[in-house]
Amino acid sequence: MELPFSESYKIKVVETIRKSTRQEREQWIKEAGYNLFNLKSDQVFIDLLTDSGTGAMSDRQWAELMKGDESYAGASSYYKLKAAIKDILGFEYFLPTHQGRAAENVLFSTLIKEGHKIPGNAHFDTTKGHIEFRKATAVDCTIDEAYVVEQEHPFKGNLDLNKLEKVLKENGAENVPMIIVTLTCNTSGGQPVSLKNMREVRALADTYGVKIVYDSARFAENAYFIKLREEGYGDRSIREIVSEMFSYADAMTMSSKKDAIVNMGGFIAMKDKELFKAATTYNIMFEGFITYGGMSGRDMNALAQGLYEGTEFEYLQTRIKQVEYLGAKLDEYGIRYQRPVGGHAIFVDALQILPNVPREQFPAQTLGVELYLEAGIRGVEIGTLLADRDPVTRENRYPELEFLRLAIPRRVYTNNHMDVVAAALKNVFDRKDTITSGYKIIYEAPIMRHFTVELEKV
Ligand code: F0G
Repeated sequence: MELPFSESYKIKVVETIRKSTRQEREQWIKEAGYNLFNLKSDQVFIDLLTDSGTGAMSDRQWAELMKGDESYAGASSYYKLKAAIKDILGFEYFLPTHQGRAAENVLFSTLIKEGHKIPGNAHFDTTKGHIEFRKATAVDCTIDEAYVVEQEHPFKGNLDLNKLEKVLKENGAENVPMIIVTLTCNTSGGQPVSLKNMREVRALADTYGVKIVYDSARFAENAYFIKLREEGYGDRSIREIVSEMFSYADAMTMSSKKDAIVNMGGFIAMKDKELFKAATTYNIMFEGFITYGGMSGRDMNALAQGLYEGTEFEYLQTRIKQVEYLGAKLDEYGIRYQRPVGGHAIFVDALQILPNVPREQFPAQTLGVELYLEAGIRGVEIGTLLADRDPVTRENRYPELEFLRLAIPRRVYTNNHMDVVAAALKNVFDRKDTITSGYKIIYEAPIMRHFTVELEKV
């Protein structure tokens, strides 16, 4: 008999989580203004708000903490991380930052000016925020297939080369300082970009003389999908694939809180010494001196170790099979989500589960609250609250899709937890006819309203 699949690690330390009663949850979520971000973590049983910074470090990463060198300048921890980045990603120069958006802040301060156009595949919110803050524009060039929920496409993170060329042609290299390729594409559902697409984007960038920057938060999960799905890569190791991926980039920003499996940290890496020098000034100003940036020495050590562990096939297989496991359960229950399952999350289609909640009453947020009430599970709305208002008309921008994202932390939950998540969603789905109204806003911030919004039941 063929042996079943099992995890590539065993558990050394555990953390107790507590179930609550529905009555308690009703009280807590009301006090939280029906905003899941306002819940205390001990009011949550299974926390799928994000996979960012929520992973479990390994024994080796914890051991690395003890060896951290906290020297202000020239710390061995900096050189350890520098060597890991060179070894795995191939970049000669790097700057540590406290997380991914800080890397964006520093690099974009160096490269982006007012009026610039920044094409890419569905930029992440903070990336777009840092672009728009500089009065530049993020142009989404993702392939159309990315927005058809039920269409199976192996690389829904790919860039549409026609859309990309149009931006380059219309604006010229002087107005397009970079193309941003996000690996995997979080916004389209944790969907990967193929190596073929990366090569083609490189060729186009070279024709127009434009830099390519990879937003690399989940680069290793992207490499895993390439190994499994792209012709010619089945026999290549994850590290070989990663190495080819980054050979097509000029620079990268990294939120280490994802695929490098640390709780805090980030960096910028680049091939060009001049770009490194220019970015160094901003890094010193915003983050810290060259050899620590926004990080302590011990955290750089754990990050270096995490880069090695995060690019091991067995680890990635364990991780992504868990996301697929949850997806298969949802299939069994007839629940629709962005297909195929992403690397870090499942994006559940709220419009299918709660068809009777009007769009202006935030169906994906309503689903998030219902799932919390059902079993203490916390997801995050990727819908109208997140899309926010049109900057000019101040009216709600209704995105094509209303998702509830269930992001799976790395090495944290077991498949039994996934069973609970799926069953709870099914219970909500089963009573969809009784859920006919959602929420209205009683407070919203001028921008990024989803973090602090306060709601009331309609
Ligand atoms: N880029 C991508 C693709 C991301 O998903 C994130 C963060 C960032 C950049 C910013 O990194 O948080 O370290 O500053 N994504 C988290 C999420 C917050 O929940 O998807 P950061």
